[in-house]
Amino acid sequence: MKKYLFLFIFISLTFCAQNSNLRKFILTAIPWEFKNCGSENDPMVVTAITLDAVPEKSVSDDITIVGVSNVHDKIIQARIDVFLQNVKITSLNQPFVQEADPGDQWIFKYGSFIPNIAPTGRYTIKFTFLNSSQLQLACASLEMDL
Ligand SMILES: *[C@@H]1O[C@H](CO)[C@@H](O)[C@H](O)[C@H]1NC(C)=O
Repeated sequence: MKKYLFLFIFISLTFCAQNSNLRKFILTAIPWEFKNCGSENDPMVVTAITLDAVPEKSVSDDITIVGVSNVHDKIIQARIDVFLQNVKITSLNQPFVQEADPGDQWIFKYGSFIPNIAPTGRYTIKFTFLNSSQLQLACASLEMDL
């Protein structure tokens, strides 16, 4: 089963949204509860996560993550770990380049699609943002029941 999950579960697309799109996301999207899985000293903090649709199997969804930087640094990639009932089922790295100064907001958008054959259960998706030294700048995780 796990093999199939690995192949099919997250067909993903990511891109960096323009700042001007932020308003649109906030007005139309569903605010989603998340946990900050970073440390208190992380140089960047995730401030909001929204979904474009209520998560459902066989329905494409966009997860939008808004973060704010407390330092000058550059995000180089996002690592996405997916857990089903707390067991890691897949992990992938997405290039995501975003330079930020203190106070700057950034947006990361993740397109997800969970096929109908995926097992039912509680999914946790963890997003870790890394700089060029592969060090964590921010981390946030969210849960969804599918
Ligand atoms: C990467 O981030 C760490 C802290 O998370 C910081 O100490 C380090 O200077 C950063 N490296 C670069 C190249 O920005």
